[in-house]
Formats: sequence, structure tokens, C-alpha cells
Amino acid sequence: MNTTTTLLAGLLLCANGVHAQTAVEAIAAHKHMGVATCSSSVCHGASQPFRDSDIAQNEFAIWQEFDPHAKAFQVLEQPRSQAIARKLGLGDATKAKVCLDCHADNVAPTNRGERFQISDGVGCEACHGGAELWLNSHADRTVSYADDLAKGMYPTADPVKRAQLCLSCHMGEKERMITHRIMGAGHPRLSFQLDTFTWLNPHYKITANWIKRKGDWNGVRDWAVGQGVAAENLLDLLLDPKTGWQGIFPELVLFNCQACHKLMKDNSWGPRQGTGLGPGMVRLNDANLVTFRYALAPVDKSAAQRVFEQTRALHQATTQSRDATFAAARALRTTLESLLPRVAAYGYDATSLNAILASMLADAEQGEFRDYAAAEQAAMASESIVIAFENDGKLDPAHVAALKSRLNGVYEAVKDEDTYSMPRFVAALKELRAAAP
Ligand code: HEC
Ligand code: HEC
Ligand code: HEC
Ligand code: HEC
Repeated sequence: MNTTTTLLAGLLLCANGVHAQTAVEAIAAHKHMGVATCSSSVCHGASQPFRDSDIAQNEFAIWQEFDPHAKAFQVLEQPRSQAIARKLGLGDATKAKVCLDCHADNVAPTNRGERFQISDGVGCEACHGGAELWLNSHADRTVSYADDLAKGMYPTADPVKRAQLCLSCHMGEKERMITHRIMGAGHPRLSFQLDTFTWLNPHYKITANWIKRKGDWNGVRDWAVGQGVAAENLLDLLLDPKTGWQGIFPELVLFNCQACHKLMKDNSWGPRQGTGLGPGMVRLNDANLVTFRYALAPVDKSAAQRVFEQTRALHQATTQSRDATFAAARALRTTLESLLPRVAAYGYDATSLNAILASMLADAEQGEFRDYAAAEQAAMASESIVIAFENDGKLDPAHVAALKSRLNGVYEAVKDEDTYSMPRFVAALKELRAAAP
């Protein structure tokens, strides 16, 4: 095939929907009109919620005042960012593509409307998609959510799509990679939990009206989906020759930071069944793979076991060869892909919560939380579970308060990655489990 026919075939594939569009591609598909086009007081810039509207209309005010995304560009002006950029030889951080891709709405200049400003940081359209085609129509009451989506609004209400969007910046993806070199220059380590992070600075509320317009909401399902999508993303990054490798070394950001960064006298090594690796080995950061197994516990126990075995096989393969690693990663990727839709469609309820906690504790007792990153994810998973118990409405307030105080204990045990102690974390998790209904 010559180049033209290859190109045509590619276009046809896209038109037929065979090429799955990534979140980054979907967001960039239409012109971005700028935060100023959303923020008028009769649009999303109201100071108080509107009473007779489906939408509160004060989203801009909340974003501007409370949401760190509004300050994401200003972060690049700070001495801390300038130092990171200087060490990497990037010049001015506020002009460096690699920084702007995650700290602003960095669409191509030809895709920016007249009122667009890069200094608005991670603005409305960085998450809701370019508003070119829907800006004028979406406020009309006769226009449905489906109409907006058809015109290029990004489906933030869909947990899989939302996870892919958030993780494109909060974990990095092929076109937007956070590397160990960037970390080495002083960038904070990234970690993400979809449910927890969705509710840290929200400009939205889930009401009966929201559910009527956009479908159901389940925080534990969102947590589960977030783990599955992050695990897929890890494997995609590892499989991509551009992002997974740096010369003769694999990209270190995909590995457990503490496998290398701990004190010589620490001496805390012990076996982990989930890796099957001996002492002195660098291991992949499998935190999301570990936690995804707990998400599967109520859905399909044998599938959880399969993920366990294939994750272990991947760890083993990293000690053999690059080809063996790729083969193991591909096999695991295929398994995850088949399981994710089942997790996304699963109705997590109070019984599920106990199954999740039980599988987490069984792992804890076997020493699976030796690595800090998995413990940190388990702590954030515990938060989603405690909130779900509370929302279930069957527990009295004293019981909820007891659960929350034990959740604080779990968080306390992962507060500092440099002084993390597995026995202390396991004890805190046991206390939480003992207080669960
Ligand atoms: C893959 C996306 C990504 C890239 C690339 C990236 N960042 Fe970040 N950065 C983030 C995220 C996400 C956070 C917030 C982490 C958190 O709090 O969980 C962050 C946080 C920071 C912080 C700390 C901010 C604070 O409030 O404490 C600084 C400073 C920073 N980034 C600078 C930079 C610079 C400079 C570059 C370019 C060399 C860069 N970042 C590239 C995603 C990225
Ligand atoms: C970091 C990503 C992000 C940014 C930035 C963002 N949003 Fe959102 N927005 C969301 C998510 C997630 C939801 C909840 C899911 C949903 O309703 O689709 C949401 C929901 C909404 C809703 C729907 C509420 C409902 O009841 O249906 C509106 C309106 C909205 N955002 C407006 C804005 C405006 C205006 C801005 C900019 C000032 C903005 N958003 C910036 C992620 C974002
Ligand atoms: C275009 C990149 C981008 C996207 C997309 C994005 N974020 Fe962020 N997010 C950032 C950056 C950069 C920061 C750090 C900003 C700062 O420190 O000022 C951040 C910070 C946050 C924080 C504050 C973290 C903390 O430690 O307090 C939360 C919560 C968050 N994001 C949630 C989300 C969620 C949920 C989504 C998806 C709906 C999302 N983000 C999508 C780039 C992004
Ligand atoms: C395979 C081992 C390995 C892994 C895994 C690893 N690092 Fe590193 N890290 C290194 C080496 C080697 C250096 C360079 C030390 C030097 O220049 O003296 C380094 C340097 C750093 C530095 C700069 C420290 C300094 O004093 O200059 C930071 C920060 C850092 N890494 C963070 C991380 C984070 C965060 C992770 C996990 C996402 C991680 N590293 C994973 C080996 C590793």
C-alpha cells in the first residue's frame, strides 16, 4: 500500500469507529472557546446556585475559588516549577509543552477561540471538551445530554471515560508522559483514585435530577473502574517502546519508587506472593493491579485469581527479557479489557463492601502491602468503602463515626512514604475491618 491508501484506510477505520479515540484526542477534537465564554453571571458564573434550573450555574465561581485546576498554570510560574524546568533544560516552565500539556488546556493554537487564554490553566474545556459546536445550543432546555455529547461534549458522567480523562494527566499517557527524569528534577510523585479525587473540590452534586439526566452514580463502582483503567494504562505505557523505555533501562516511573529509594539500613525486605520476586529486585508499581483484584472480589472471584496469577507472571517476566515482559503484559492487558465492562456494569452494594474488605485484609495478612504505593491505594479504597457504608443509610451515626475514626488511623499509617511501616498499616486495616458491619 502507498502512503495515500494507508492514510485513507486509517481514515475509514476512524470513521467506522474501529480506532478507539483516546480522552486526549476527544478533548482536542473541537475548538476550545475559553473559560471566559462559560463564566458570565447568566451562564456558569452565578455567585449563588440558580433555583429553577437543572444546573446550579455557579460552577465557574467554585472552580475559580476552590479548584486547584484553576491555579495549575500559575504553579508553573512559581520558583519550584522554574527550578524543575531549568534542571531539565526546558527553559521557561510556562512555555514548555511537556508542562503545559498537564497544567493547562494546551490544545493546538489553531484550535483556540478568540477568548481562549492558556493562563486559565485546566479550564472547563480541558475536561468537558471543546465547546465549538455545543456552546450556543447546550443551554437550551429542549437539548438533551445525548445531544451535547453528539456535538463533542466529553462524557464526564461515564466512569470509564472520566477515569481515562483524569488519568491522562494524573498518571500520564503516551502523548503526555511524566517521566522519572521529571520526578528526579523535583516533580511530586503522582497518585490517583477516581472516586476520592472526583469529590475533593466538586462543582457538581449528584441529585435525583442529575441521575434522571445522566444515569446512575455509584462511588465504589467509580473506585473500581478507576483501578481497572489505571492498570490498563500502566500496561499501555510499559508496552509502548517510546514511553516504556529509556535507552537500555525501562522507564523507572513505572516501577515502585521505594524499590530503589529507601535507606540502606532499612532492611525491611520480605516475600510478596503477588510478585514472587526475591530480595534486591526492582519491581513494577502494581498498586492498581493489586487493588483491582479487590474490586473484582464481589464480581468474580476466579477472575480476581486470574489477575493475581497474570500479574505475578508479569513480575517474573521482567526478570527474564523484554520480549517475555511484553508477552506477559499483553496477556494481562487482554484479561483486564474483558473484565472492565463487567466491573463498570456491576451494582456494588453493602454486601460487596464486605467482600472487598475481606479480600483486602486477606492480602494484608499475607504481606502484600510491603510496597507503599499499594498501601496508599488501599487507604483510598477504604475511604470509598466507608463513605458507601454511610450512604447506605443502615448504620447509626455512632457506628459511622467509629468507622471514620478507624479510617483516619488507616490514613495516618500512609501519611509519610519515607517512614511507612507495613505492620502498622496492617494493624490499622484490621481495626477498620473489625468496625465494619
Ligand atoms: C502527566 C501530567 C503532568 C506533567 C507532564 C507535569 N505535571 Fe506537574 N503535576 C501534575 C499533577 C496531576 C499534579 C498534582 C499532583 C497531586 O497533587 O496529586 C502536578 C503537580 C505539580 C507541582 C506541585 C504543585 C503543588 O500545588 O504542590 C509542580 C510544582 C509541578 N507539577 C510542576 C510541573 C512542571 C514544571 C512540569 C514540566 C516539567 C510538570 N509539572 C509536568 C501533572 C503533570
Ligand atoms: C478537572 C475536570 C473538570 C474541569 C476543569 C471542569 N469540570 Fe465541570 N465537571 C467535571 C466532572 C467530573 C463533572 C461531574 C460529572 C458530570 O456531571 O458530567 C462535571 C460536571 C459539570 C456540570 C454538570 C452538573 C450537572 O448537574 O449536570 C457543569 C455545568 C460543569 N461541570 C461546568 C463546568 C464549568 C463551567 C467549568 C469551568 C469553570 C468546569 N465544569 C470545569 C469535571 C470538570
Ligand atoms: C489537563 C490535565 C488534567 C486533567 C484532565 C485533570 N487534572 Fe486534576 N490536576 C491537574 C493538575 C496539573 C493538578 C495540580 C494543580 C495544582 O497543584 O495547582 C491537578 C490537581 C487535582 C486535584 C487536587 C489534588 C490535591 O492533591 O489536592 C484533584 C482532586 C484533581 N486534580 C482531580 C481531577 C479529576 C477528578 C479529574 C478528572 C475528572 C482531573 N483531575 C483531571 C491536571 C489535570
Ligand atoms: C530502578 C531504581 C529507581 C526507581 C524504581 C525509582 N528511582 Fe528515583 N532515582 C533513581 C536513581 C538512580 C536516581 C539518581 C540518583 C542520583 O542522581 O544521584 C534517582 C533520583 C530520583 C530523585 C532525585 C533525588 C536527588 O537527590 O537527586 C527523585 C526525586 C526520584 N528519583 C523520585 C522517584 C520516584 C517518585 C520514583 C517512583 C515513581 C522513583 N524515583 C523510582 C533510581 C530509581
